Amino acid sequence: MGVDVGTGGTRAVLLDSGGKLAASVTAAHEDMRMERPLWAEQRPEDWSQAAIQAIRGALNQAGARGADIRGIGLSGQMHGLVMLDAHDHVIRPALIWCDQRSQPQVDWINQTIGRENVLKFIANPMLTGFTLPKLLWVRDNESANFERVRKILLPKDYARFCLTGDYATEVSDASGTGMFDVMQRRWSFEMMNDLKLDRSILPRAHESAEITGRVSRQAAESTGLAVGTPVVGGGGDQAASAVGNGIVEPGIVSCTLGTSGVVFADMETPAYDSLGRVHTFCHAVPGKWHVMGVTQGAGLSLQWFRNRLAVGASYDELMDEAATAGPGCTGLYWLPYLMGERSPHLDSTARGGWIGLTAHHTRADLIRSVVEGVSYSQKDCLDIIAALGGETSTVRLSGGGSRSLFWRQVLADIFGKRVARMETQEGSAYGAALLAMVGTGEYSSVPEVCKAVLREVDGLAPRAAEAKIYAQGHRVFQSLYPALRPFFAATTSS
Ligand code: XUL
Repeated sequence: MGVDVGTGGTRAVLLDSGGKLAASVTAAHEDMRMERPLWAEQRPEDWSQAAIQAIRGALNQAGARGADIRGIGLSGQMHGLVMLDAHDHVIRPALIWCDQRSQPQVDWINQTIGRENVLKFIANPMLTGFTLPKLLWVRDNESANFERVRKILLPKDYARFCLTGDYATEVSDASGTGMFDVMQRRWSFEMMNDLKLDRSILPRAHESAEITGRVSRQAAESTGLAVGTPVVGGGGDQAASAVGNGIVEPGIVSCTLGTSGVVFADMETPAYDSLGRVHTFCHAVPGKWHVMGVTQGAGLSLQWFRNRLAVGASYDELMDEAATAGPGCTGLYWLPYLMGERSPHLDSTARGGWIGLTAHHTRADLIRSVVEGVSYSQKDCLDIIAALGGETSTVRLSGGGSRSLFWRQVLADIFGKRVARMETQEGSAYGAALLAMVGTGEYSSVPEVCKAVLREVDGLAPRAAEAKIYAQGHRVFQSLYPALRPFFAATTSS
C-alpha cells in the first residue's frame, strides 16, 4: 500500500506484487487556510482523518483484508511543520510547503551563522519554504506555542506517527527541512547547535526503503489494517513520484505538475547549483541524490483561475477553451508567482500577473497563457538541471496537469523535447508503494522494482513551428521577472 498526504487530499493505493494497481482512493482535505497573502496552513488532524478514510476506502475497493497488506509506504507534501507537545497533541495548524512568511527568519539564520555555513551544513541555501525558518517564525511570534514543542514532524511523518506511534522520517523528506546534512544523510547537529536549538525535537531519520515501525492496535482499529503491518520510510512527494516515474538513474528527467511544478533528475553524486536555484536533496534510493527545480504556482495557477474567474468550469473545459487560442497568445504572458517563487528566482516577494494584455485578448488567451507561463517556468528549471549534468532526451510527465493532452503537447513544444507518461498514473502514492515492496523484501532494490513494473506510454514529439514560437516566447518570459523585481520589492515593503 502507498499513502500520499498531498495538499488537496490524501490518496491510498494498493498494488499486487507485479506493481499492478488494485485500488486507488483519494479523500479530500479542507482547503488550505490563507489568512494573509503568502500564508498557508492546514490542520494535521484533517490529514490523519483523510488517511483513515483513504486506507479504508482502498481496502474496500480491492475487497482486501488488513492481513493481505504486506507493507505500507508513505509519501507527502514536503517542508510542512507539524509541532507536537509533551502529550503528542498538535500544538497549532501546520505551516505548509508554500507558506512564505519566514523571510525575517531566513535572514536571521544567514546573519547568525553565515551563508557559507548554511551551504556547508545542508548543501542548499536556506529558503522560506523550508521547515526550519517556519519553526523559527513560531519561536519569534508565538513563544507560548514554541515552548510547548517536544517533537516536530513532516506531514507524511505525522501520518506515520498516527499509524505506528513512532517519531520517524526518511532522508528525502528530511532534506527539505533546512536541518538535514544532505551530503552525510543525517541531521545537521551543527545547524541545530549553532542556532541553539534542541536536537531532541527531531525524529529519527531512516533510509527511504527501511522499515521504520509497525501499525499499532489503535491504528489497526481505525483503518482496518492488521496490527504489526510494516511501515517503510517512503519519501517526500517529489522523490516518491520520481520512483513511480522510474527516475532512479541518470539520463531521464521528470516534470510533475501538481499544485507545484517540479523538474526532477537523479544524481549519482550530489551536484549543486552555485546560485542555489534548484534544490540538491537525498534521493529515496540509498547512496543517490537528486536535484529538483520548483515552480511554486503550477497547478495552483490554473486552480486559482478556475476558482476566481471560471467558477463551475471543469479543467477539461478550460483546456479545450485554451486550445482555441494560438501558441504564444499574441504576446500575452502569465507570471506564475502567486506564492512567490523558488526556482530560479528564490524570491518570496515575487507576485503573479499577466503582462501584455490588449483589448484583443480573449478568455481563451488568458487560460492558454497560464498553461504556457507555468511551462516556461518549468523550462527554466529544466535548463538549470541540464547545465548540472541532468541532460535528457525524454521528459516523463506526471501529476494532474499531465492528464491534459493539450498541456502535454505545450510542454513538448516548450521543452523542445519528447515527453511521455508512465502507464500507471498514481503519482507519489504509487512510488511510495514501490518503496514498501523493496522495504519488505519483495524486490531487492529500488532500480530493480522500477525496471520490473514501470512502462512508458503516450510519447509526444515537439512540433517545429510551435517550438520556434515558444523559443522566442521563453526569451521574453525570462526578461519579465528581472524587469519587475524592483516593483515586487516595493509592493511588499509598502
Ligand atoms: C517540493 C515542494 C512541493 C510540495 C507539495 O519541494 O515544495 O512539491 O512537496 O507537493
